[in-house]
Amino acid sequence: MQLTQTSTALAKDTLEGLTSKTKRLSSKYFYDESGSKIFQQIMRMPEYYLTDCEYEIFYKQAHSIIGKANPDKIALEIIELGAGDGIKTKLLIKELFRQKIDFRYIPIDISEEILFGMAANMQKEFNELKVAPKAGDYFDMMEEIERYSETPKLILFLGSNIGNFTLDESVEFLSHLHRIIHPQDRLLIGFDLKKSPEVILKAYNDKYGLTRDFNLNLLKRLNEELGANFNLDNFEHAPLYDPQNGVAKSYLVSTCEQTVVFSALNRAIRFSKWETIYTEQSQKYDTEMIHNLAELSGFEVEKNFTDTQSYFMNSLWKPKQ
Ligand code: AVI
Repeated sequence: MQLTQTSTALAKDTLEGLTSKTKRLSSKYFYDESGSKIFQQIMRMPEYYLTDCEYEIFYKQAHSIIGKANPDKIALEIIELGAGDGIKTKLLIKELFRQKIDFRYIPIDISEEILFGMAANMQKEFNELKVAPKAGDYFDMMEEIERYSETPKLILFLGSNIGNFTLDESVEFLSHLHRIIHPQDRLLIGFDLKKSPEVILKAYNDKYGLTRDFNLNLLKRLNEELGANFNLDNFEHAPLYDPQNGVAKSYLVSTCEQTVVFSALNRAIRFSKWETIYTEQSQKYDTEMIHNLAELSGFEVEKNFTDTQSYFMNSLWKPKQ
């Protein structure tokens, strides 16, 4: 079995994660073709309130968001980190047209397929839209854009994608962004807020089994790309939420003693009964945590926008002067 470039990184991270004392796999590998499709379905289910709440914020407050981010109605570049399906971004784009702002939309994503698909879809919906998708690493692409363009930017990092980083990783990520951008640029970040643990758990343990399939798909990916022989029936999806620190965690739990062979890697990994693989964290925040995060990474909060239930927050940041 020949490994592709992506599979080489996957192989390295998988071996490192599954041979460590407490086994883990990175959630960044959830998004192969079938994982991305399952995630689209997750976003459409009512239990996964995050999408609806952020949509509501944009639907009702796009006017104030754009007004606050760009009070002088000057030309803008809208940069979106992670292409997604663009449904929420369309609301901001409509508002920019309504306010007659001259802008260009630049989605950045590592996956060319997802990126060009959504860019084509956007172009179809708004034929006067200037859209310039960039496939690659967020920071490499941001550096390139900042090098060639003095136009002020509004950078979007939506959907609480930030929550899949630990707090330390978030500070590192945002500080890196801070080093690249210009003083006139603004950042709009989506944060999922702390709320009833029951509501949060339902979003990660839905009755349709979609989140379970999403989590187990990671093992299916290892079977396909690393020649592993995981039997998906021998693992259980186990989500947890700790209301004290606001961390939702997902595990895969081995329901029996078993050995999994990775034929492409010439390795075998043993699992004892009830041993866990930590696959994802989804941080939930409160306003104080958001302000601290901004402060620690060189930003200040300009304004927070929240939905009617106070489930989600879009926080508009500017670099600290
Ligand atoms: C992409 N990310 C913000 C999602 C989340 O809520 O952490 C991924 C996800 N995991 C399970 N359901 C959705």
